Amino acid sequence: MKLINRTRIADLFNDGVYNKEVCVKGWVRTRRNNKQVVFIALNDGSTIKNIQIVVDIEVFGEESLKTITTGSCIFVNGLLVESKGYGQSVEIQASEIEIAGTADPNTYPLQKKGHSLEFLREIAHLRPRTNTFGAVFRIRHHLSFAIHSYFNNKGLYYFHTPVITASDAEGAGAMFQVSTLDFKDLLSKGVKEIDYSNDFFGKKTNLTVSGQLEGELGAMALGGIYTFGPTFRAENSNTPRHLAEFWMIEPEVAFFDIHDNMDMAEEFLKFVISYAMEYCKDDIEFLCKMYDNELIDRLHSILNNKFVRLTYTEGIQILENSGEKFEFPVYWGADLQSEHERYLVEKHFNCPIIMTDYPKEIKSFYMKQNDDGKTVRGMDVLFPKIGEIIGGSEREADYDKLLNRVNELNMSIDNLWWYLETRKFGTAPHAGFGLGFERLVLFVTGMTNIRDVIPFPRTPNNTEF
Ligand code: 4AD
Ligand code: MG
Repeated sequence: MKLINRTRIADLFNDGVYNKEVCVKGWVRTRRNNKQVVFIALNDGSTIKNIQIVVDIEVFGEESLKTITTGSCIFVNGLLVESKGYGQSVEIQASEIEIAGTADPNTYPLQKKGHSLEFLREIAHLRPRTNTFGAVFRIRHHLSFAIHSYFNNKGLYYFHTPVITASDAEGAGAMFQVSTLDFKDLLSKGVKEIDYSNDFFGKKTNLTVSGQLEGELGAMALGGIYTFGPTFRAENSNTPRHLAEFWMIEPEVAFFDIHDNMDMAEEFLKFVISYAMEYCKDDIEFLCKMYDNELIDRLHSILNNKFVRLTYTEGIQILENSGEKFEFPVYWGADLQSEHERYLVEKHFNCPIIMTDYPKEIKSFYMKQNDDGKTVRGMDVLFPKIGEIIGGSEREADYDKLLNRVNELNMSIDNLWWYLETRKFGTAPHAGFGLGFERLVLFVTGMTNIRDVIPFPRTPNNTEF
């Protein structure tokens, strides 16, 4: 084959330059024949659009084209021309074709279109090759990029917090244990109690549920930081909103109070959503058409509305007076269930809300305590269709108050002394929040199951791919 630099298919559509020789490489989506020509729809993942390859059968010979079937990988040299056909702006008249990899039509699982999302989850190794998952994963990429861009512009530093941790203090969820001990061997020796001093780290360790506590150390030195990494929760919650392994973004800013924190959360969400709408237009339009006709309107409505801010106490009053029949009872002190959150967001206010000042019993130990002795400076951002997308708070900056709370909750200071020292040496007001990345991707793509917005979902009994 003549050596021509490969062009990404997305760039062919953007260049606007015709009648030049190009080389494309990609996977065949469909192939149609008539007597004279073969039409191949080729996709290389760079865009949801396929490029049409026109192949003259007389020039190439039937036989040499036989294994160009759906799923096969081909390299094509040819002339990029304005298309006469309906539905595409350019096409390639093939001059040379190399078949890099065939895909047997009898066994290739994506031979036909229109598979269910459930079926595609069972072939997670191939599903990125579908239009839907190509779109979702490109959007996922652009959202990640937008997140880094937002915080970088704000002067916050990307701070890497550990994945393996000995602190189990956050209390955000059940943890996965990390160990190199040979449990089978210990059992066979009749060991009744595990001595973790013999383990790799000399103590019991887990996968982190959040980078916040270490993030706070960063904020108290660099002024403002954010984390963006995988977090792990071993709750056995098989819901469309929970993963055992998910990505979380946690900014933490010194000198911020809860109002600054709410302002940043709102500005941040609007920034990344509008970025995706600008840079993922084709993909979002495709998902809107295929899965959720209201998607684009819903995204616009986020950008155009101010998020309503209210206290937990006000929220409970609205729910109590709603006359609505809820499965879980509503009373002051109850943890809000998603049916309550969705009533407030989707029925009562019809826009995102930020709820603040929760009862201390249902929130983490580190949240700033209000003067009423009952509530803390927590803030959750609740979104239509999603429910809680962000959880955060102003932090308790007072050493004695924080220590009291730690003791009240019988938490072990052995694993937490370093955290408490931030309040001992140069303490300062500060605040932060955590965004569940997959919940954001769910919202922007209009997908309804969190398993469909991460390439390789980790849920109970699911680690095949
Ligand atoms: O509300 P959470 O538990 O808050 C924290 O972890 C704090 N340390 C954040 C902070 O203040 N820095 O979790 C934050 C967000 C939730 O609002 C939700 O969007 C997401 O993380 N989340 C999950 N996403 C997917 N699967 C799960 N199992 C999740 N648990 C929480
Ligand atoms: Mg939360």
